[in-house]
Amino acid sequence: MSVRVNRQWRLAARPAGEAAASDFQWVEEKVRPIEDGEFLVRNVYLSLDPSNRVWMNAAPSYLPAVEIGEVMRGFALGVVEESRHDGFAPGDIVQGLLGWQEYAISAGAGVSRVARHPVPLHAHLGLLGHIGLTAYFGLLDVGKPVSGETLVVSAAGGAVGSLAGQIGKIKGCRVVGIAGSDDKCSWVTGELGFDAAINYRKGSVVRGLMRHCPSGVDVYFDNVGGDTLDAVLRFINLKARIVLCGMVAQYNTATALPGPSYLANAINKRARLEGFIVTDYHDRAQEAVDDLVRWNAQGKIKYRIDIVDGLDRAPEALLRLFRGEHRGKLVVKISDEPSR
Ligand SMILES: NC(=O)c1ccc[n+]([C@@H]2O[C@H](COP(=O)([O-])OP(=O)(O)OC[C@H]3O[C@@H](n4cnc5c(N)ncnc54)[C@H](OP(=O)(O)O)[C@@H]3O)[C@@H](O)[C@H]2O)c1
Repeated sequence: MSVRVNRQWRLAARPAGEAAASDFQWVEEKVRPIEDGEFLVRNVYLSLDPSNRVWMNAAPSYLPAVEIGEVMRGFALGVVEESRHDGFAPGDIVQGLLGWQEYAISAGAGVSRVARHPVPLHAHLGLLGHIGLTAYFGLLDVGKPVSGETLVVSAAGGAVGSLAGQIGKIKGCRVVGIAGSDDKCSWVTGELGFDAAINYRKGSVVRGLMRHCPSGVDVYFDNVGGDTLDAVLRFINLKARIVLCGMVAQYNTATALPGPSYLANAINKRARLEGFIVTDYHDRAQEAVDDLVRWNAQGKIKYRIDIVDGLDRAPEALLRLFRGEHRGKLVVKISDEPSR
């Protein structure tokens, strides 16, 4: 049998600000034989997520920090090529934290088999993966939108935000997006059905909210934190719900940023600010997948995917996430899809 070579990215240094290509080291090594209770996965798609940058810090987040010299952590989807594990067989499509590498050996922890739906394979890392589940449970379980309410979504042109806004429309909300380019703003209003969008790089978010949220804000799905969160806090209604999904505006800073200056408004308005992590909803995933598959088939929910070809380009692609240069869910294609 031919010897498999595993090409992988390992963490070489902890970035002080933006990550750089030099923070990663390219390593090539032989794939070792699997042992009883293990299986070998050939990764096909790697998901690039803002949390990748957070995991490079020395401080733990909801997961421990990636150690220097360790394979860079990342969600990936692949095909089982060999197995000595009772729960996984060759040919199975699986996903989990399989890392920035071509081959992963797993004993099954945190890896699940993918039930195929009539969507492209990479959508199992986006719409039907952790991205779709984040938008679905973050909005519906934490934000609890009610028909007729006003929902504001930041990073609205991104993977999670674009889905959260569309789910808000399905639930009968007035949806206002905040995004960093005219292209993203016209995509969410033109194709996705948002009621309005504010380009935060072009003008004042406060003025945009004043104009597009005449009845105030009932639910804010926050993907960015920072000044945007502060701006929205000025417009919240009584009993508003602020869904703390992510704070991408501060992922590239090593030091903690000051809190929002309008936080006291949460007292005045008896508002609720609540964080969540998608993995908490693992047991309820099917609930979300059933709805998302149906809504997608009915044309009520759309998504964009941005595929970067080649694992060697993963570090440069990660930088694009923070510059807002990608279009929709960003994935790296590592190897060919298995035939169905
Ligand atoms: N809680 C959870 O379990 C969970 C799970 C998955 C993701 N998340 C969070 O959800 C958020 C969105 O993730 P995603 O995968 O969908 O990424 P994404 O929105 O596709 O990409 C990130 C976007 O953030 C925007 N951005 C970057 N730097 C910014 C800044 N300084 N200020 C304002 N906007 C900035 C950029 O869009 P613009 O062009 O609009 O600037 C960029 O495209 C992230 O915060 C992520 O950590 C949370």
